[in-house]
Amino acid sequence: MQVFETIGAFRAARTAYPTLGFVPTMGFLHEGHLGLVRRAKAENGAVAVSIFVNPTQFGPNEDYASYPRDPERDLTLLKEAGADLVFLPTPDVLYPPGSVTRIEVGGVADELEGQSRPGHFSGVATVVTKLFNIVQPQRAYFGQKDAQQCAVVRRFVADLDIPVEIVVCDIAREADGLARSSRNVRLTTENRQKAPALFQALQKAARLFRNGERDVDILENAMRAVLTEAGLPDIDYATVVNADTFRREQPCSDNALALLAVQAGEVRLIDNMPL
Ligand code: PAJ
Repeated sequence: MQVFETIGAFRAARTAYPTLGFVPTMGFLHEGHLGLVRRAKAENGAVAVSIFVNPTQFGPNEDYASYPRDPERDLTLLKEAGADLVFLPTPDVLYPPGSVTRIEVGGVADELEGQSRPGHFSGVATVVTKLFNIVQPQRAYFGQKDAQQCAVVRRFVADLDIPVEIVVCDIAREADGLARSSRNVRLTTENRQKAPALFQALQKAARLFRNGERDVDILENAMRAVLTEAGLPDIDYATVVNADTFRREQPCSDNALALLAVQAGEVRLIDNMPL
């Protein structure tokens, strides 16, 4: 496994690989990330991983400074998972003085997370575009955990004619259902115990949907009730949208996606489930 901090050195090493899978990450890796790495390796023969906590996708009052970081441990895990190339730039490598260009995605990027985190998807689209230009992978792997991010990436890849295939992988969960996330280590013991309520709320909506319920108000209220009863009343959104547009429809369509964003103390948790 080779590790590079500069664009030039990474590009020089990349030429040795005719096909390359790519997994962009912000590090502090867990089984969710490593599942993507193993799949990318299996499907492409070689895999590149980037580790970069991207400042442009964090709002001024968000957790950029306190986002967990441990590159040494990440590199050990990536070696075990079979990574070939690792790109680990510093912020000035990707955003040197004078850099001002940003990618603005409309449509799907304007909903939900786009409302709650203004500028977030512009930061994601900008850094992922830059990483695609540097890494030039045949396929790139993203997690369904960030369902709206997957839809935004698919959108700008199509709109900008970027020659990469986007592969979306299932959500990796803890034994109690909590979706794995780098931010989970920042949960207090009490909130860690409450956190599986997100998965339970989504399962509740899925059960109702399976039994024929298509009234979005009823599905949303059922999820809110599970969260509130579990002691997580600080709900940013608990909703059901069309999985293609991320827009709320009443009654909901057959390709419905339930989505949650909940504040648990200092940590904002998100999760989702296709219904
Ligand atoms: P990060 O949160 O580190 O996630 C990197 C990738 O791992 C994303 O595609 C994410 O959806 C996936 N992932 C995270 N938790 C997962 C889980 N429990 N199961 C399956 N996949 C999971 O997402 C980002 O970083 C950034 O926005 C990035 C795309 C790197 C741009 O900065």
